[in-house]
Amino acid sequence: MYIRIAEKVMENPETVTLYFSYEFPSVPGQFVMVDVPGKEEIPVSLSSESSITVKAVGDTTQKMLNLGKGTIVGIRGPYGNGFKAVEGNKLVVGGGIGIAPLRYLVRWLERDIDVVYGVKTVKEFIFFEELRAKNVVFITENGSFGEKGTVIDILESMDLGKYDQIYVCGPEMMIASILNLFEREKILPLTQISVERYMKCGIGICGSCCIDPFGLRVCVEGPVFNGEILKNSEIGKYHRNGSGRKYVWKN
Ligand SMILES: Cc1cc2nc3c(=O)[nH]c(=O)nc-3n(C[C@H](O)[C@H](O)[C@H](O)COP(=O)(O)OP(=O)(O)OC[C@H]3O[C@@H](n4cnc5c(N)ncnc54)[C@H](O)[C@@H]3O)c2cc1C
Ligand code: FES
Repeated sequence: MYIRIAEKVMENPETVTLYFSYEFPSVPGQFVMVDVPGKEEIPVSLSSESSITVKAVGDTTQKMLNLGKGTIVGIRGPYGNGFKAVEGNKLVVGGGIGIAPLRYLVRWLERDIDVVYGVKTVKEFIFFEELRAKNVVFITENGSFGEKGTVIDILESMDLGKYDQIYVCGPEMMIASILNLFEREKILPLTQISVERYMKCGIGICGSCCIDPFGLRVCVEGPVFNGEILKNSEIGKYHRNGSGRKYVWKN
């Protein structure tokens, strides 16, 4: 479908939220394929029923930063499985732009939620006022706001055993460290973690988003997986580009 951008909010100089006058029938964690005029079609998570939030990292995302209110974009979806609601105490862990789908999740879960949200410097925080109303630990790597350190530093100091479910989205190296920590704490089964892979079709046909060794398609079986599955997968070890070439993650 083609949808007009109803509102544009610059969250920080490199991140934009585009609001549409349409509520996607969806659950948090699902994504849409966005066809940007003159650029590529890319996967982007919903940051609410009617918005996407994008960080400029390359050509297409940079173009999205410059789209104006009223511009029409092509959208397919929502696709993917999304997060599942669970009763009891919940912890939501976000790193960087990974907070985008988690903002929708936090609104959806509504209560019994603690949030841990880390970025490099204070300038990177988005949805700050909205999240501040929740029980949030803000973290910056350089100590410019909140706790100083990484998300992992804070998680290591917490009693993770009190949570019935832990939801995670963030950079792959953060996820890799979290998987190691959760394995040590024996809580991997209680986790739902959203991951990213290069996508072309978004609907399970092309195979570009499959993760080894199970061949799970991030666009259909994911992007949200249980931590036990991810711990035994390529996540944190390597990924592939659009032509299938393997790239080993560097710390
Ligand atoms: C399910 C899913 C949900 C996503 N949700 C969001 C979101 O809510 N907000 C958002 O800003 N981005 C999100 N992304 C990532 C977004 O799709 C990429 O940033 C985008 O495709 C980059 O396109 P580009 O042309 O701007 O950059 P490119 O020139 O294609 O890439 C720029 C750099 O980003 C890296 N990159 C590109 N795509 C990915 C990827 N999928 N995973 C890791 N690194 C990548 C490239 O290796 C390169 O180093 C999501 C990705 C997936 C798979
Ligand atoms: S993007 Fe084509 S199978 Fe997932």
